[in-house]
Amino acid sequence: MRNLVLGLQFGDEGKGKITDFISQEDSVLVRYNGGTNAGHTVVTSKGKFKFHLLPAGSLKAESIVLGNGMVIDPEALVKEIGDVLVENPKLHIYISSAAHVVTRMHRFMDGAQERMRGDMKIGTTSHGIGPTYEEKYSRNGIRIEDLEDENRILRKLKFIRELRSSELQDSPFDDRELEKIARELHEKWNYFSKYVTRTEYFLMDSVNNNRHMVFEGGHGTLLDIDFGTYPYVTSSNTISGALHTGSGISLRKIQRIIGVVKAYTSRVGEGPFPTELHGQEADRLREAGGEYGTTTGRPRRVGWLDIPLVNYAANLNDVDEISITKLDVLGEFKTIRICKSYGNKVKVPVDALLGKAVAEPEYIEMDSWGKMSESEIGHIVETGYDSVPQEMKDYVSMVEKLTGKPVKVISIGQIRESTVVRK
Ligand code: GDP
Ligand code: IMO
Ligand code: MG
Repeated sequence: MRNLVLGLQFGDEGKGKITDFISQEDSVLVRYNGGTNAGHTVVTSKGKFKFHLLPAGSLKAESIVLGNGMVIDPEALVKEIGDVLVENPKLHIYISSAAHVVTRMHRFMDGAQERMRGDMKIGTTSHGIGPTYEEKYSRNGIRIEDLEDENRILRKLKFIRELRSSELQDSPFDDRELEKIARELHEKWNYFSKYVTRTEYFLMDSVNNNRHMVFEGGHGTLLDIDFGTYPYVTSSNTISGALHTGSGISLRKIQRIIGVVKAYTSRVGEGPFPTELHGQEADRLREAGGEYGTTTGRPRRVGWLDIPLVNYAANLNDVDEISITKLDVLGEFKTIRICKSYGNKVKVPVDALLGKAVAEPEYIEMDSWGKMSESEIGHIVETGYDSVPQEMKDYVSMVEKLTGKPVKVISIGQIRESTVVRK
């Protein structure tokens, strides 16, 4: 089976947990967009693992691929590979020679651009993602394959410095510093060059050999550079089609597209958020859900489940099914709400998502299932979906009704095992 897992909201839906859940020991796992701005957490009996560049199922898979659509920070890469090989020493790693390289200079420019934007700031992760994609599309970028040659890196760095002089004002990047960066990047190359290849060939072979594959989308659909809440988006496409340009594998080869939906909504950074909660209610949901960024530690903005948003995303991605995560968190509330529409004033939901129309969310209220104890969750995991509290079943059925998509998997806790397949 060839699967695609992606998020139907603003990121942090729990994609990592679902990728890990459906990954097998013989799987090929693929990332195809973004970089360390993604943060995917997997919790096992051995502890908490955070992934930024490697796919979240790397703890148990056979092979992982970092596709050409990614922007890779070699420093972070070396660390993550080291950490994962301790847990899964037999893991095969393939890194695209055509992926682009994030350098310290790009991270600096990310921060500088944010400062220059003033009150128009985006709230980026400051990981250098935007400037690195800019370099890629202006054809001045440093690709992974360039790291083989220290002089080539230095030449490119100097050219970029010249082009970007206004962003690099008061920066520490004199010639000596650039020489240091070039040297460091080349040293990293010496560490990971054995993994570097034209990954599309390995992926095509994997498809032809009918391998179990999981493609993991970074970020969420509403952070897509074209379809998201521009300019409050990331710098890559995040919808399903990005898999093709970011890995070389046609979307036609994907047999199952899983849209991951958090039972409520969260967002980090700026931008419209129709169902956002404020004050005590928001604090309660944030605390119950542990809604602090995996990548930056920033408190996430939170709100109720937003069906117009999820439906827009589900259609854009042509999802086959939905996985709902963090249902346990809503047990914190007595009454829970689902936004079913944005009111008469909003003709097209995307207008509200773009901040062009003011949404007046129309909510359905439902009874909650209450806080579940660890033993209750354990019992459900052991005995299956039949043991799920009726109120939770009603909530899941309501999501199915409002989206028209089957909910096949639910997640009711952070740990890997607390995931229930609905037969
Ligand atoms: P991703 O970016 O979509 O992979 O999501 P993140 O890993 O950034 O954020 C999701 C957070 O929710 C992580 O800390 C997960 O461990 C946690 N999580 C995932 N599923 C569940 C769940 O069903 N219940 C609870 N309580 N936590 C969950
Ligand atoms: P995962 O894969 C949540 C957000 C940032 C910021 C905007 C642009 O963990 O779901 P960038 O650094 O990409 O230029 O920042 O996009 N953002 C994410 N928010 N989860 C993510 O990834 C995100 N990736 C980017 O917070 O608002
Ligand atoms: Mg995340």
